[in-house]
Amino acid sequence: MSKKIIVTGSQGYIGTLLVQLLCDVGYNVIGIDSGLYRGQDCGACSDAANSLTIDIRDLEPQHLEGAFAVCHLAALSNDPLGNIDPALTMDINCQGSLHVARIAKAAGVQRFLFSSSCSTYGAAGDEYLDEYATLNPITAYGVSKVNSEKGIRELADESFCPVYLRNATAYGFSPRLRLDLVVNDFVSAAFLNKRIFIKSDGTPWRPLVHVRDICAAFQAMLEADRSLIFNRAFNIGSTAENYRVSELAEIVRHAVPDCEVIYDPAGGPDKRCYRVCCDLVRDVVPNFQPQWTVAQGVAELLEGFMVSGLSSSDLELQRFHRLPVLRQRLQSGVFDSQLRPTVTHFQTSSSGWQT
Ligand SMILES: NC(=O)c1ccc[n+]([C@@H]2O[C@H](COP(=O)([O-])OP(=O)(O)OC[C@H]3O[C@@H](n4cnc5c(N)ncnc54)[C@H](O)[C@@H]3O)[C@@H](O)[C@H]2O)c1
Repeated sequence: MSKKIIVTGSQGYIGTLLVQLLCDVGYNVIGIDSGLYRGQDCGACSDAANSLTIDIRDLEPQHLEGAFAVCHLAALSNDPLGNIDPALTMDINCQGSLHVARIAKAAGVQRFLFSSSCSTYGAAGDEYLDEYATLNPITAYGVSKVNSEKGIRELADESFCPVYLRNATAYGFSPRLRLDLVVNDFVSAAFLNKRIFIKSDGTPWRPLVHVRDICAAFQAMLEADRSLIFNRAFNIGSTAENYRVSELAEIVRHAVPDCEVIYDPAGGPDKRCYRVCCDLVRDVVPNFQPQWTVAQGVAELLEGFMVSGLSSSDLELQRFHRLPVLRQRLQSGVFDSQLRPTVTHFQTSSSGWQT
């Protein structure tokens, strides 16, 4: 019988593709998601697995019973989202993650794959950072990931094997698109407006990883020898795929004829700057071999935008930017201040949100 795998955040940018991948290779996948961005799909999108519409803060052990592993992705998923309310980011990302880890352990789940982030390194310099580098998060989001890792670490024992996937910044096409990620942002602006706008001076380093390579890393961690990955953190990406923001803009500019790059005259050096070494995962989990480069991902995004019909109004309405969508849903009462759906507005039917 195929192993049962729980994926939280299953209707997100990464989760949607992860569920698809795990179903394709034969796992019995159950998705869990509270539907924060329901209805904001780019092109055709259907969920590959059975899913539960539930907030991770409300999960109980019986929701996870019989599962071999939990891939825990549900979160307020970037630095700016911490601006809504830093305490809420801590509540969902940190307390919520600890809650899921505790009930997973209580339910007999053997492996807990936590979707962490290279944002944990925060403000660093030009040196390559490996998994032993000092963590220096500078946002509520980054702190929430550091504290989650710390708290989950204490649960590790012979029955419960947590692993921390510190993902680089993702790029690439997913039907649950995000355009608040640097490469996706630049490609969409170049595609629709022939203009890339850089908010900093372009000097910060970022490690980049294709969204499908993140999914492949989760699969590799599900299948890796337990003793090799037990309670360890891994930077997920490729050491060769670190770029300055200005270099990313140039890659996109070369792929889109007549596109210009504009720097915000007031833009200083973004404090978030980290250059990451990803050699550990390559050495310890050789089944994970990242397949994509940024240049290939840019071409894939352009193709995806063309096929799905990404439009100027999508950009103007910021349909694929997490922070404005949540702000709008909070203001219109779809969610209460704790991002719990209000009874009158929450629809679980296939018609999605009624706002
Ligand atoms: N995309 C990246 O570049 C990146 C990089 C590093 C780490 N990560 C991490 O990977 C994970 C997934 O990222 P993503 O880009 O797919 O984000 P996303 O915002 O697209 O998806 C997050 C999903 O989690 C769900 N969710 C949020 N709060 C929830 C709650 N309380 N209960 C149930 N579901 C909830 C949302 O509805 C959404 O579908 C996150 O933990 C994120 O921090 C992402």
